[in-house]
Amino acid sequence: MPVRCEKTPAWARLEALKDERRGFDLRQAFAGDAGRAAALSQEAPYLFADLSKNLIDAEVEQALLQLAADCGLEAKRAALFAGEPINSTEGRAVMHWLLRTPADAAGLAPAAAAELPAVHETLDAMLAYAEKVRADHTITDVVNIGIGGSDLGPQMAVLALAEQVAPGKHFHFVSNVDGHELAGVLKGLAPEHTLFLIASKTFTTAETMANAESAKRWYERSGGTDIAGHFAALTTNVEAARAFGIETTFGFWDWVGGRYSMWSAIGLPVALAVGAEGFRRLLAGAHAMDEHFRTAPLAHNLPVRLGLLDVWYRNFLGFTSRCIAPYHSALRRVPAYLQQLEMESNGKQVDLDGRPLAVGTSPVLWGEPGTNGQHAYFQMLHQGTDVVPLEFVAVRQPAHSLEGHHAKLLANAIAQAQALMVGKADAGGHRNFLGNRPSSFFVLDELTPESLGAFIAMYEHRVFVSGAVWGINSFDQWGVELGKVLAKDLEPRLASGDVQGLDASTAQLLGRLKQG
Ligand code: F6P
Repeated sequence: MPVRCEKTPAWARLEALKDERRGFDLRQAFAGDAGRAAALSQEAPYLFADLSKNLIDAEVEQALLQLAADCGLEAKRAALFAGEPINSTEGRAVMHWLLRTPADAAGLAPAAAAELPAVHETLDAMLAYAEKVRADHTITDVVNIGIGGSDLGPQMAVLALAEQVAPGKHFHFVSNVDGHELAGVLKGLAPEHTLFLIASKTFTTAETMANAESAKRWYERSGGTDIAGHFAALTTNVEAARAFGIETTFGFWDWVGGRYSMWSAIGLPVALAVGAEGFRRLLAGAHAMDEHFRTAPLAHNLPVRLGLLDVWYRNFLGFTSRCIAPYHSALRRVPAYLQQLEMESNGKQVDLDGRPLAVGTSPVLWGEPGTNGQHAYFQMLHQGTDVVPLEFVAVRQPAHSLEGHHAKLLANAIAQAQALMVGKADAGGHRNFLGNRPSSFFVLDELTPESLGAFIAMYEHRVFVSGAVWGINSFDQWGVELGKVLAKDLEPRLASGDVQGLDASTAQLLGRLKQG
């Protein structure tokens, strides 16, 4: 029977520490410990993290590390890298990390080593195709049709690396089944200049199939005659893509979860945007983080420290949400990407045996780029009644040459973290800031493919760590199924008006939205 985290000795110790730390004050903690900033910071590949403005201290971290030990984190991490079928409800290994493992890597577990040649064969083929399309100046627009993990990762990365995107190519991402989205994109396009990428791990997702069919219809009706040249599929279901009429396909494997798939063929839009070399650099940055996570001692392991901090906040301090504030506009889709990564992975209510959990799991993750958020919801973060840990992401070097902007941006990021912590207690009444509000601060030296890859891989592993402590399967997503089934039932009813067997509210809405 799997270990229940709340039954471990470390959990009891943390419960006691929570009570002992009731009056914990960040300002006093810094005043009383000159080494705090250094002790609670962590260097990792391409990334520096200052965790010192969090509501923890050395003793709490020690107890959290003990919790990791009690919950078998190291064995679970070993199982991940051994390619064991840790996605137990689907009987699958979890090896997205293998997608960024160099071809000549030594010491891999047999399950991983067996797959590595095919990984590189596919990668090489996909990158060769990307280079061919990049050199083809008749293709000016690339439309990625996919949703969830088949949309958010490539979209986030293409935006993040916009500075390095070759001129002459425009990237569009269509995910929603709402036809307004596809119609809006198609409006400005010409079939002979457009390449459609149909991105779907399963090649069955209703939204993607509807958009793909419509794109094909549009292509043909607009005079396009070369489906083979203007459509490619990124999928594990190559037969379904062929049946759809697509000849160019790039595959991946069932051991790559959708939300972990941007490193696979799903990353083709990124490769088209930044080139084969840029894509390999993205993989290299992520691999460096994999190695850090796999080999660094737990006490100096960034994803481990963060994942344990997440457990502390969620289960002991009762914080149910976390805000992410990238202070870089190119990172504007990072919060949406991380939402799927964390909430689809760890939004679970049963343990590995399917028994109800006794502890809370995934927090709500949300956010917008700074400084915009400052003029919207930061009010609540500073003076609201709920404590929401914040995560700042700052990039030291700008990629533009406009004078003064970057210093203003960075000063704001640091100032917000400082203000959340120090507060302003002497102002009185409405002007009072209590302070003592926690934040983490990530610093990337430059926004490059490597640093982006490392940052995202760090987050993947962090989500793994908290999921491992909670004893859940972070790699399935059964919770999305029911809505899909019900939508299938309701779709024909919208035309027929049949409300038989429906509850009164559903029937009423169907009546209001009836089509035709
Ligand atoms: O509905 C959830 C989900 O299965 C995600 O996990 C996945 O990223 C998304 O749908 C898209 O799936 P696919 O790539 O198979 O179209």
